Amino acid sequence: MRTLKVALLGCGVVGTDVARIMTTQADDLEARIGARLELAGVAVRRAGRTRPGIPDHLLTTDAAELVKRDDIDVVIEVIGGIEPARSLILTAFDNGASVVTANKALLAADGAALHAAASRAGVDLYYEAAVAAAIPLVRPLRESLAGDKVNRVLGIVNGTTNFILDKMDSTGAGYSEALEEATALGYAEADPTADVEGFDAAAKAAILAGIAFHTRVTAADVFREGITEVTAADIASARAMGCVVKLLAICERAKDGVSVTARVHPAMLPLAHPLASVRGAYNAVFVEADAAGQLMFYGPGAGGAPTASAVLGDLVAVCRNKLAGSTGPGESAYAQLTVNPMDDVVTRYHVSLDVADKAGVLAQVATVFAEHGVSIDTVRQTGREGDASLVVVTHRATDAALSATVAALRSLDHVRGVASIMRVEGE
Ligand code: HSE
Repeated sequence: MRTLKVALLGCGVVGTDVARIMTTQADDLEARIGARLELAGVAVRRAGRTRPGIPDHLLTTDAAELVKRDDIDVVIEVIGGIEPARSLILTAFDNGASVVTANKALLAADGAALHAAASRAGVDLYYEAAVAAAIPLVRPLRESLAGDKVNRVLGIVNGTTNFILDKMDSTGAGYSEALEEATALGYAEADPTADVEGFDAAAKAAILAGIAFHTRVTAADVFREGITEVTAADIASARAMGCVVKLLAICERAKDGVSVTARVHPAMLPLAHPLASVRGAYNAVFVEADAAGQLMFYGPGAGGAPTASAVLGDLVAVCRNKLAGSTGPGESAYAQLTVNPMDDVVTRYHVSLDVADKAGVLAQVATVFAEHGVSIDTVRQTGREGDASLVVVTHRATDAALSATVAALRSLDHVRGVASIMRVEGE
């Protein structure tokens, strides 16, 4: 029976679970792969700490030396970030190793170069864990749906923000209070920027859009707006409309057939939509394809064990490929679609205005919408001591038309302020 040697880069929450499962499931993994897995080295940032279940002699702080070894068959990269992960992965390819990574930021920034390097070296690059951890998404899109035409991917791909928004919805808490609770419970990191400003979700959206539409999409192509400006009033207004607020990643094929859009922003979603019932830190992704119709993938999108589950699945796949002398699917970017700017996106909007409660103000506001070709669906007014809060929900319009409308509204004398603008999705 052959042995395949595995190098593990990173031994934090995910790496520890990867090593643990490799040990506890060793016999089953051997039976499934047809070869014994040997953990041949574990690169850690700091020396001197014992890692439970990992013999001390396997630990090294020299990741660069570990990936240079020519006896390593597979490198698992769970360090995260751009460098040194990128250089380590490229060196691993140069030395004939396949790579399994959970690194969404790197793939979303530089996926094309990594795929090209893997292809030149005749090895695999697998990354199921990079998007929504345990939820199978990359393989279903790359393989199961390879014969179909995917038109739309709509998902909740960040657990931290879903936890915060869900808390705001269920308790009436404001953003800061809900963030504090997410931090105390370990959902939000000490610096929550990557999650709450939408960077994490945008990287995942870029990866999903690229695979779904067989084209190249980078994180820089994805429109991004986080949840830090979402207020308790927005959540209450969504409730009044029979909606919840979710941070959505939305990747869509445009009608012209030659372009796509990719965006991440908070949006109101009708309670009847399947994604509206995704609570707490869970993730879910809705995929719409020509022949398959509507599919939904749901589960834990973060955490050590769920992420390790996806890493181990990839490890089994790349090991099977190695034994067969083959490789799995590489990058599929033949479609070469243009990624359109946010201005071209067409959706519905919830616009909340503070206005003077005087005769003719509603007419002025409605005129501004009409002048910009934005059709109003509903208007709700609540009076407040001479002022009023006006909530306008529009029919579908381009983001450019809505932005121009809002700019014109701000210049009206009787409009005291634009309290919030939120997109309405899911119809
Ligand atoms: N921080 C992410 C989340 C998990 O909250 O979903 C890793 O991408």
